[in-house]
Amino acid sequence: MKDFLSINECSSKELHELLNLSSQLKRLYRAGNQDTCLSGKVLAMLFEKPSLRTLISFQVAMADLAGTAIYVKPEDIGGIGKREPVKDIARVLSRYVDGIMARTFEHETITELAEFATVPVINALTDRSHPCQAMADVLTIEEHLGKLEGVKIAFIGDGNNVARSLAFACAKLGMKMVIAAPAGYQLDAETIEEANKILAGSVEQIGEPAQAVAGADIVYTDTWVSMGQEKEKQKRIKDFEGFQVNAELLKSAPAGAKIMHCLPAYRGYEITDEVAESANSIMFDQAENRLTFQRALLKRLMG
Ligand code: CP
Ligand code: NVA
Repeated sequence: MKDFLSINECSSKELHELLNLSSQLKRLYRAGNQDTCLSGKVLAMLFEKPSLRTLISFQVAMADLAGTAIYVKPEDIGGIGKREPVKDIARVLSRYVDGIMARTFEHETITELAEFATVPVINALTDRSHPCQAMADVLTIEEHLGKLEGVKIAFIGDGNNVARSLAFACAKLGMKMVIAAPAGYQLDAETIEEANKILAGSVEQIGEPAQAVAGADIVYTDTWVSMGQEKEKQKRIKDFEGFQVNAELLKSAPAGAKIMHCLPAYRGYEITDEVAESANSIMFDQAENRLTFQRALLKRLMG
């Protein structure tokens, strides 16, 4: 494994190894010890979009492993693929640093970086996928439920980048995902077909949120307006009516169902404050595990 671009490009074995390494390193750091495997190594972090969790957790993970992270704002380098071609950025950075992490609009920017870079490239979110988030999520599920196999996730909302990565994680790790999204915002048929080829019946799309959450171990949601879609905000808020994760919807879910959200959460839209702050909400464990997973990923790719 040279790069980490999409969950569906990894084998189940690689994903399990990354999860095990994440837990191992979590225990090591909780015990106050350190792994200095990235001593002298440098990660360049390119961001076309804002970030709290991804940016800081990668930076801290590099520091934890005794490496250095450099944060690059697009304007610092004249934009990614604007002042110079993406393939030139990839080859120049490969002469300076030991790894490149990027958050971009177009997924093709990441794949082109990976094609031309001689160092590992990590997808820190594109319009298409968010694999590091999905891995932190499954780690969190495993910690809370003690297993992955057979777990049922109901995803309510937009069939977006987060939903797509989670769908592939479910297919690769033996979980079941039921998505309820309004017409026009559903997860694309190709992704569902690909996931079900990996594991038959792992991803299913239905219309009714109440039907999706029935029997679910996890109820997951994400923003209705992803980064880059701000102009569509008013239309989306209207179109997603009836797809809010709220107390009324949760009456159709098992009482113990855990609530997940990749954050940032827009309370009053895709989720109510009441549900986000409820005892079943595990969204800050998810956020913590972004750091847990980044450590393992960086050690695996750059160590
Ligand atoms: N969940 C997530 O990726 O958060 P950030 O956008 O803050 O990095
Ligand atoms: N779907 C959201 C996730 C943010 C972490 C977005 O792309 O903006």
